[in-house]
Amino acid sequence: MAQPGLRNSLPADDTGGLPVNFLPTMKTTLSFSTPAEIETEALVAIALDHAEKDHAEKDQSVKGATVNQRSESEKKEKPQLKLATSDGAVQSVAADLLASGELTGRPFETNLLHKPAGLKAKRLLLIRGGAAKKFTSYDLRRIAGTAVRTLKSRGIRSFAFIAPPSIPAEEAVRAIVEGALVGNFDPDYYRSDRKNQKIDALTIVAGGNADHAALEKTAQDARIIGESQNFTRDLVNEPSNRMTPTILADRARTMCEEVGLKCEVYGADKIKELKMGAFWGVAQGSDEPPALIVMTYEPAGAPAKPVLGLVGKGITFDTGGISIKPADGMEKMKYDMAGGATMIGAMRAIAMLKPKVKVIGIVCASENMPSGKAQKPGDVQIAMSGKSIEIINTDAEGRLVLADGLFYARQLGCTHLVDAATLTGAVVVALGYTNAGVFATDDAIYERFHKANGEAGEKMWRLPLDDEYKDNIKSTIADIVNSGGRWGGAINAAMFLREFAEETPWIHLDIAGTAWMEEQKPWISKGPSGIALRSLV
Ligand code: BES
Ligand code: MN
Ligand code: ZN
Repeated sequence: MAQPGLRNSLPADDTGGLPVNFLPTMKTTLSFSTPAEIETEALVAIALDHAEKDHAEKDQSVKGATVNQRSESEKKEKPQLKLATSDGAVQSVAADLLASGELTGRPFETNLLHKPAGLKAKRLLLIRGGAAKKFTSYDLRRIAGTAVRTLKSRGIRSFAFIAPPSIPAEEAVRAIVEGALVGNFDPDYYRSDRKNQKIDALTIVAGGNADHAALEKTAQDARIIGESQNFTRDLVNEPSNRMTPTILADRARTMCEEVGLKCEVYGADKIKELKMGAFWGVAQGSDEPPALIVMTYEPAGAPAKPVLGLVGKGITFDTGGISIKPADGMEKMKYDMAGGATMIGAMRAIAMLKPKVKVIGIVCASENMPSGKAQKPGDVQIAMSGKSIEIINTDAEGRLVLADGLFYARQLGCTHLVDAATLTGAVVVALGYTNAGVFATDDAIYERFHKANGEAGEKMWRLPLDDEYKDNIKSTIADIVNSGGRWGGAINAAMFLREFAEETPWIHLDIAGTAWMEEQKPWISKGPSGIALRSLV
């Protein structure tokens, strides 16, 4: 498939609601042959370090003195690299290089060997996976992404990847497919020199005694999830002039038609009719009309309960409103709809995976702009639930749109709620770019979600919701204020949302620090990450 000449195919004034980007789809095949027998542009094997580093690590943690007493050679224990495959032919091609002592055990370092003797592959790519003892599917996902990015940058379009035998076959296949798809995404759509290099076909070489049919299903499901994650990343990547609330709604609608979901899109009239005063308070300042997007998945035979509600913040650009943000870095606020895009992508995956449970996806999409019509600090808005909110800071807009989104989800019959939002700078202060913040009112549901984080290879960290924090959002004039100040800012925001989830079991994901990769990594490009989609699905 050729990438249409994107920059030239769109008239400057037509951002049109058409899917301007398309997915980097990748064919995935399973193979149960001997790796050496596979004809491919490149065969990829993981090299793990089997060195016994344990005592060295213990020494260091005990006392500095112990470290000093150890000899130089002990400190710099050489990596003992071994390939994660039982194929003797593949091992022997790499044997000299691995034994040379020239390589570090550092993860994601690569070596590409051409015309490997005794293999049918044209190339053998070795990727270092770090310590064998600590190697998990979390690392494997990243190695698969690294393989994709290393090979596609060389113009290679297909390869075979040897699943490491130490990880159960299904878990390995899932991680490889998802990781490879994530690696295949690049955000440079509007560059004239876009190379559009991508991998078209991946063969996974799985262990011989696995259940073939089950593995095929795993690979299929993983492809749906990986592609949905990239679908979300495409939405997040678009700048705000090409991703208005209306365009976001159109993209959701097109997706829903493709996968057979019901989709309703409402505008300002309906938002006012529903008395969504918090949502409208944000939307009223913008010339771009807001959109309330409601996607419904209701499979035949689904029980009446539970009904899951997925609610996303869809601020297509956050200037801060009258409490305007500084110019420096404001361009990044195009990704303030990442939570909403995550829910749209999650609904896509859910519609294709067909679980037997009803799910409703709700995205509150708006710009947050300063204007003569904009809400002002000190204004009081009445949310759909009837609670009154004193607007202290118009830049705390995400919680306003979500307040009405969460309440509306409950009105539509949702018995369980999850929201995702790039909600606070404070969560970035607390957890950096590594962990997303998770808040939950129900421990049992939190535990289930935490388990999903592990299976999906996504890092999230739970933050508290103690009643003491409620003092921070007290108002003299109204029921609550929309900003609890700097300290514990991510928690204050979550406490605000809790006022609208009330007794309904609810999980809140603050993805402000994790929805955008600040730097490229060997396994993923810079730009939108698609965080949370895999755990949610
Ligand atoms: N969209 C921002 C949060 C954000 C910050 C997302 C950095 C991504 C990266 C949100 O609407 C916001 O402005 N929050 C304020 C809240 C404050 C005014 C209480 C913040 O975090 O500063
Ligand atoms: Mn804001
Ligand atoms: Zn925002």
